[in-house]
Amino acid sequence: MDLRTVLQQGTEFLSRAGVDSPALSARLLAGKVLGLTPLQILTEHRRELSPREEAELQALMRRRGQGEPVAYLLGEREFYGLCFEVTPDVLIPRPETELIVDAVLDQWAADQPVHFLDLGTGSGALAVALAHERPKARGLALDRSRAALRVARRNALKHRVAGRILFLEGDFLQSLPARDLDLIVANPPYVTQDEYDELSPEVAAYEPRSALVSGEPGGDGLDHVRGLAPGAGRALRPGGLLLIEIGWLQGRAGVKLLQDSKWGFEAVRVLPDLAGRDRVLVARKQSGRS
Ligand SMILES: C[S@@+](CC[C@H](N)C(=O)[O-])C[C@H]1O[C@@H](n2cnc3c(N)ncnc32)[C@H](O)[C@@H]1O
Repeated sequence: MDLRTVLQQGTEFLSRAGVDSPALSARLLAGKVLGLTPLQILTEHRRELSPREEAELQALMRRRGQGEPVAYLLGEREFYGLCFEVTPDVLIPRPETELIVDAVLDQWAADQPVHFLDLGTGSGALAVALAHERPKARGLALDRSRAALRVARRNALKHRVAGRILFLEGDFLQSLPARDLDLIVANPPYVTQDEYDELSPEVAAYEPRSALVSGEPGGDGLDHVRGLAPGAGRALRPGGLLLIEIGWLQGRAGVKLLQDSKWGFEAVRVLPDLAGRDRVLVARKQSGRS
């Protein structure tokens, strides 16, 4: 069978299965099996597939049709222009998280050193992107999942920043392994249990629950933010910045939480994402506090 026919049939199959962007999924999966770039997939329509290639592609299409995210099937996802390895042990990096990188790059010029900590690094998306964009940055990246840390380390090696990031296994709700930091970034779990029950099966059935959900049923999803605030307040140098991704309904509560004077933050605000919805909490460690 030629590529054009395989793509047509695959797209119809995925469309019937209710998959988002079925044609794109079919092209990406075909590209993986055939080792073709997206452009080659479009230009090599007459290429004949071997029976082995057809069988391999059909198997991937079936898994996609059952809801398995395309990033896990491909084993990769782009974040901030870099290709990250992803496995089911890590959250698939989301475009909205790039807002944290943008905000950091606005604050630190390219030639400035910055000493940062990434809480809940997962695939390493934030730590690796920051180190890649800021050659004088050095950081620590923490996660309690050993399997995720293995993926994050491989991503740091792939993008040649492994020498500037120390990956550590640990619980950021217990203690933070640094002092006098310029910057703390975090994309913690923030989905409430009630929201989790409503998530599409594509997310809930495949991505790690421990990367998504914060708190008990009936909670506000901010348990991790509440839990990391005291440690972050102690670990930042005066004037240092804290940036935390939150859910779009958590802006007001998140700001109020970080404004609590006992954590030592000032200039607490929330940044909107491209859709104009609350997405990132920003706070500065008070200058007079250490
Ligand atoms: C939402 S994912 C974010 C992953 C990555 N930073 C990103 O933006 O794509 C949250 C990560 O935090 C980790 N995590 C959750 N609770 C943690 C805790 N108490 N201590 C350390 N890591 C934690 C999870 O294992 C997961 O990798």
